[in-house]
Amino acid sequence: MDITLQIQRQSERNIAPKFKSYRLSVPESTTILDCLNQIKWQQDGSLAFRKNCRNTICGSCAITINGRSALACKENVGSEIKRLQKIDPDAAKDPILAIAPLKNMPIIKDLVVDMKGFWDNLENVEPYVSTGARQIPEREFLQTPAEREQLNQTGNCILCGACYSECNAVAVNPKFAGPHALAKAQRMVADSRDRRTDERLENYHDSESGVWACTRCYQCNSVCPQDVAPMDQITKIKSQLLQRQNPNTNRTIRHRKTLINLVKQGGWIDERRFAFLVMGLQNVSEIFPLGWRMLTHGKLPVSFEASEGTAEVKSLIKQVETLIESSSDNPVK
Ligand code: SF4
Ligand code: SF4
Ligand code: FES
Repeated sequence: MDITLQIQRQSERNIAPKFKSYRLSVPESTTILDCLNQIKWQQDGSLAFRKNCRNTICGSCAITINGRSALACKENVGSEIKRLQKIDPDAAKDPILAIAPLKNMPIIKDLVVDMKGFWDNLENVEPYVSTGARQIPEREFLQTPAEREQLNQTGNCILCGACYSECNAVAVNPKFAGPHALAKAQRMVADSRDRRTDERLENYHDSESGVWACTRCYQCNSVCPQDVAPMDQITKIKSQLLQRQNPNTNRTIRHRKTLINLVKQGGWIDERRFAFLVMGLQNVSEIFPLGWRMLTHGKLPVSFEASEGTAEVKSLIKQVETLIESSSDNPVK
């Protein structure tokens, strides 16, 4: 089929990008990476993009395809057109696929981004089993199958950067570790061989760089090509932290309770009231810079009318609370 790839081009850092269109005639099953290869080999050798395994293993080829971050070697022309048809039923007539680099990272050239911040954040969560655990005098450190299973989901991460690219918290808070790093952090917390769980949890508890800075937007879960579900991993760390905090004095607990109360009232979180109720009037200046960046980046709606179905939301929360109450050992109680 005949398609157009509209690719964002940028010859070097800090200059304005431009879109350039390329026509291709390819079968629907052609991956986006093969389309890029065809353009580079047959039409324009100056096009820059990353690739390696061509098989969703190395994580190199993540880019933005029609607005969402994905692996170019996993998505194909047919599936992209189907996605476009959900928005425009006529999209298959003369398909145009928009290709751009990952977001939240500076562009080096065309589809190649500078991932230094991504790697630095990963390093900051110390993603390796503690040395204490490695000092085994006589035999290797054994794990039961159940203990090993705890590591499977987070172990699937291929460090592609798709989650980081979509993360709303990363977009407004340069200190936030990011979903990839915190998913890896949970992998370390869950590892039965690690000896630094308390210290780690203390680090991940930080309100700007740690788990509490996540806005729970779900974007990381929805784009991750390996089903790592970073937001779920962040929630597991939160549960561990909540088990260890004093519920009467801790801001984190207040944060959680305020969130639930606001959702009960209006069906969603009014972030303006949320900030005041959690921080208190005297401390709200601490988060003013973050609030301002959210507002100027279009991440903070200006009005918060109650959503439809609020009564249903209230009823669901009540049922969940009843269930939690009846479960004596639930960590998020
Ligand atoms: S968590 Fe998923 S999206 Fe994020 S870097 Fe790992 S594989 Fe990629
Ligand atoms: S759920 Fe949290 S970590 Fe995931 S993309 Fe949203 S803000 Fe980022
Ligand atoms: S080229 Fe390795 S994941 Fe796409």
